[in-house]
Amino acid sequence: MLAVEATDVSKTFGTVRAVDDITVRVAQGEVYGVLGPNGAGKTTFLRMLFGLIRPDHGTIRVFGRTWEHDDVAVLDGVAGFIESPKFYPYLTGRQNLEGLVLLDGGVRPGLLEEVIELVDLGDRVDLEVGGYSYGMRQRLGVAASLLREPRLLVLDEPANGLDPAGIRDMRALVKRLAASGLTVLLSSHHMDEVEEICDNVTIMTRGRVAFHGSITDLRAMAPAPGYDLRTDADDRALLVAADHPRVQVDLRDDLGLVVTATETDAAAYVADLCARGIALRALVPTRTPLEALFFMLTDEPETDDRAHPDGGAAGRPAGATTGAR
Ligand SMILES: Nc1ncnc2c1ncn2[C@@H]1O[C@H](COP(=O)(O)OP(=O)(O)O)[C@@H](O)[C@H]1O
Ligand SMILES: [Mg+2]
Repeated sequence: MLAVEATDVSKTFGTVRAVDDITVRVAQGEVYGVLGPNGAGKTTFLRMLFGLIRPDHGTIRVFGRTWEHDDVAVLDGVAGFIESPKFYPYLTGRQNLEGLVLLDGGVRPGLLEEVIELVDLGDRVDLEVGGYSYGMRQRLGVAASLLREPRLLVLDEPANGLDPAGIRDMRALVKRLAASGLTVLLSSHHMDEVEEICDNVTIMTRGRVAFHGSITDLRAMAPAPGYDLRTDADDRALLVAADHPRVQVDLRDDLGLVVTATETDAAAYVADLCARGIALRALVPTRTPLEALFFMLTDEPETDDRAHPDGGAAGRPAGATTGAR
C-alpha cells in the first residue's frame, strides 16, 4: 500500500488552474519531494491532501483511505503543517506543545521530551515563541506534528525563509526522521534543499507535472555544470577552448568567461590554460546541474528569491498544525 496515491487531481480557483491533472505516488518509508517555483501548485496539492480543500477532479488516497469514503479518518497517522506553523507567541515552546497535548487528550509518557530532543530545540524550548527565529518555529512545528506519532509527515516548504545553517539543520532533522521509518512528503522551491534528502520527486510548474522520478534519474538528465572563469587573458583563453571540443566557453563582455563542461573536461581545459601561461583568477561554479535542469523544466528565470522569510503565510489560524489521531 502506498502512503499517498493522488491520481489525476485538479483544482481550479476562478480562472487559475492551480493543480492540473497531477498524479503523485509516495511509497511508505521514503522521503518524497514536491518541487516547483512559487505558484506551481504545491500548497494547493498539500491542502487537498489534508482535506482543507476538495479537488475538482481526481482522487487522493492516504494509506488507502479517501476523503469520500473515510472522511477525517484519512488523517489517521498523518501530521504536518501547511505554509508555516503558528504558535502562541507569549507562551514558551514547551507550553505550546503542552497545550497541544491537552487538546489531543494526552500523549504517551515521555513523548513530549522525545520530540523536543529530536528537533534539537534544547533549552530554547523554555523561551517564549515570540522570540524564536524562523528556523526554531519550523522545528517547533515539526515537534508539534511528531506529538501525533504520525506514519506520514507532510511539510510545506520547511526550509523556506531559513538561512543556510537553518536549511542544514532542517535537512538533518528530516534525515533523522526518515531513518526512523517515517514517510516524509515535503515541498520546496529550491532543488538543493531536496536533492540530498529525497528519494523521489515530482517537479511541478504551473499546476502540471514536469518530471517525476528518482533523483538518480533526474541527475542522468542534467546538463553539464557551468562555471564563471576569470583569467589574466580572457581572449587567449577563448582561443585555447578551440582545442577542447567538449568544453564550451563564452565571453560575457567585461564579466569574464562562462565555461560549460563536465568537471573532468573543465579541469583539463583549466590545466591547459595554466600550461600556456594564462593565469587563473577565479573558477566559480554558477549552478549545480540539477538546478540548471530545474530551471529548464520549470521555465523559470534564474533569480534568487530566498530573501523573504515569511513566504506569504499570513492569515493562517493559530495552531495551524494539521493532523488527526
Ligand atoms: N484560495 C485561492 N484562491 C485563488 N487562487 C489561489 C488560491 N490558492 C492558490 N491560488 C493560486 O493557485 C496557484 C498555485 O498556488 P500555490 O498552490 O499556493 O502554489 P505554491 O505553493 O507552489 O507556491 C497560484 O497561482 C495561486 O495564486
Ligand atoms: Mg506554497
